[in-house]
Amino acid sequence: MERRRAPDPRSGRGSPPVALEVDTVNRRLAFGFEPLVRGYRETRQFGRILVRLRPYLKPHYRRLGLAMASTIGFTIVTLLEPWPLQILFDTVLLKRKLRVHVPGLDLHFLSQLAPHTVLVTSVSAVLLLALLRGQFYYLQSVLAATAGQDVVMSMRRELFAQFQRLSLSFHRRAHAGDLLMRLTGDILLLREMVVNAIINIMSHALVVTGMIVVMLRMDASLTLVAVGLAPVLFLCLLSFRVRLVEAAHRQRKREGVLASTAHEVLQGIQIVQANTAEHYENQRFKEMNRRSLRASLNSARLEAQLNRVVLVLIAAGLGSVLWLGAERVLAGRLSPGQLLVFLAYVQSFYKPLRTLSKMTERMAKATACGTRVLEVLESVPEIHDLPHAVVPQRVEGRITLRGVGMSYGEGPPVLRDVTLDIAPGEKVALVGPTGAGKSTLLALVPRFYDPTEGEILLDGVPIRSIRLRFLRRQISFLTQDATILGDPVRDNIAYGAIDREGAPPSAIEIELAARAARAHEFIQELSQGYDTVVGERGATLSGGQRQRIAIARALLRRAPVLLLDEPMTGLDPISERDVLEAIENL
Ligand SMILES: Nc1ncnc2c1ncn2[C@@H]1O[C@H](COP(=O)(O)OP(=O)(O)O)[C@@H](O)[C@H]1O
Ligand SMILES: [Mg+2]
Repeated sequence: MERRRAPDPRSGRGSPPVALEVDTVNRRLAFGFEPLVRGYRETRQFGRILVRLRPYLKPHYRRLGLAMASTIGFTIVTLLEPWPLQILFDTVLLKRKLRVHVPGLDLHFLSQLAPHTVLVTSVSAVLLLALLRGQFYYLQSVLAATAGQDVVMSMRRELFAQFQRLSLSFHRRAHAGDLLMRLTGDILLLREMVVNAIINIMSHALVVTGMIVVMLRMDASLTLVAVGLAPVLFLCLLSFRVRLVEAAHRQRKREGVLASTAHEVLQGIQIVQANTAEHYENQRFKEMNRRSLRASLNSARLEAQLNRVVLVLIAAGLGSVLWLGAERVLAGRLSPGQLLVFLAYVQSFYKPLRTLSKMTERMAKATACGTRVLEVLESVPEIHDLPHAVVPQRVEGRITLRGVGMSYGEGPPVLRDVTLDIAPGEKVALVGPTGAGKSTLLALVPRFYDPTEGEILLDGVPIRSIRLRFLRRQISFLTQDATILGDPVRDNIAYGAIDREGAPPSAIEIELAARAARAHEFIQELSQGYDTVVGERGATLSGGQRQRIAIARALLRRAPVLLLDEPMTGLDPISERDVLEAIENL
């Protein structure tokens, strides 16, 4: 098991879930609060992720600060938007005294202006405000997006490097597809959270607060009526959100099943066609497709239901403000223009609320994604350098095993008390049936795994105390499943010397290695010789050809220690003799 530095977020002090502590009599009530409790827990985890992301955000503080400033500008302009209308109504159309009180600003001169001037000014103000609002919105979005992209890029780099650092035991347990998801999808959603969500939440919360303050100054009790429905609406949105998220999860899960089935069929297309299973696979696919469709319809239905509720609630709010407000205007306690401002606010008041509740949904998703990314970033590679790892001057290549025992995880022992001494230049063959532990023993030497008992020494130095990178440079390792990259043959062989200091291997060096591995003949017969690009994972080569390229790669490495894991797999008897000869000649 990889050790974790950070505690598992699911087992923190936040659990057990608070709702469970409420007794059964109150279950109904508890359900009503459940979204809030969940929201609270998510917010805390969100905060934790933000703290962890600080180093990535730091270079962008200036940009994020500007984005925040634009957000504030956006808020102010949004609040100002209905005012020209009020001024126009009250002073020009109804010829009343202006009732706007801006502290430190005398606006009464507006009543003295010619009506036409006020009209022109108001209309220009409407246009100007719209322009400003657009500009602020643009700035806010672009600045945030730029910072976000950058954060994603640096996180992605670190995640990729971490994948390569993590030990084989981690990768054997993890699913490659899942890790790839974290590198692509999860990180993108995280950016969404870090930048868009924060900026959006900030700006909408500001707008809502600002509107409430302005409305309170105009008419306190009317404000209470207007705002009274907001908590109801918000609770309603939150409880719908829980169901929406669940529906979305179900939908994505079904789509995942669909995708992986299709992937399996494509990968095993030969088996499908050889067994004439096309009809069966089509039927299976059809059923899954139908289920996925049902799930997405369910989501759409929920969304529509929510919309219906929201529209009714907003109408109720507007209706009550209209009713009470009109009465106030008739009683002369409010000007018609002010009522207009009120109505405009109430109408646009509910939109930020909706956005905020949508944001909480995105935040929930992004928090989950962030947790997945951090899980990898905070894993400590099981095999790493000791604090005072040594780098020996010269390596002869003597390998000593002292009472080595090995078991994978909690499994039964694979090796027990193996003692072995291999002198430099000595060739040793390990012979045993399949599953005897030959590959396991070889994997212990470059420290792909550490033995559970005993120790291994290189030239008398315990390999645990040698710097890992140096140790692996001394070893040329041919794995059992010859891994070939989808690159030109030449690059595939040169990969063995990719970490070598000095000049990269010359064409002659590569050819010599290929000749020694009995690969030269068939490489020459490929369409472009050494420059032929082989298919992904060497799919366009035969097993024996792949094996010989891998041998050439191992030979080119020219390390003092050469480990070959079943190098003859897939070779015909004649090539086998040739390769054996090549190894003898090393
Ligand atoms: N990554 C692993 N996790 C758990 N068990 C493993 C792993 N790799 C190999 N084993 C087990 O260890 C035993 C020895 O495997 P291996 O060393 O590959 O044998 P050989 O190379 O001699 O055929 C087998 O029983 C195998 O099931
Ligand atoms: Mg093996």
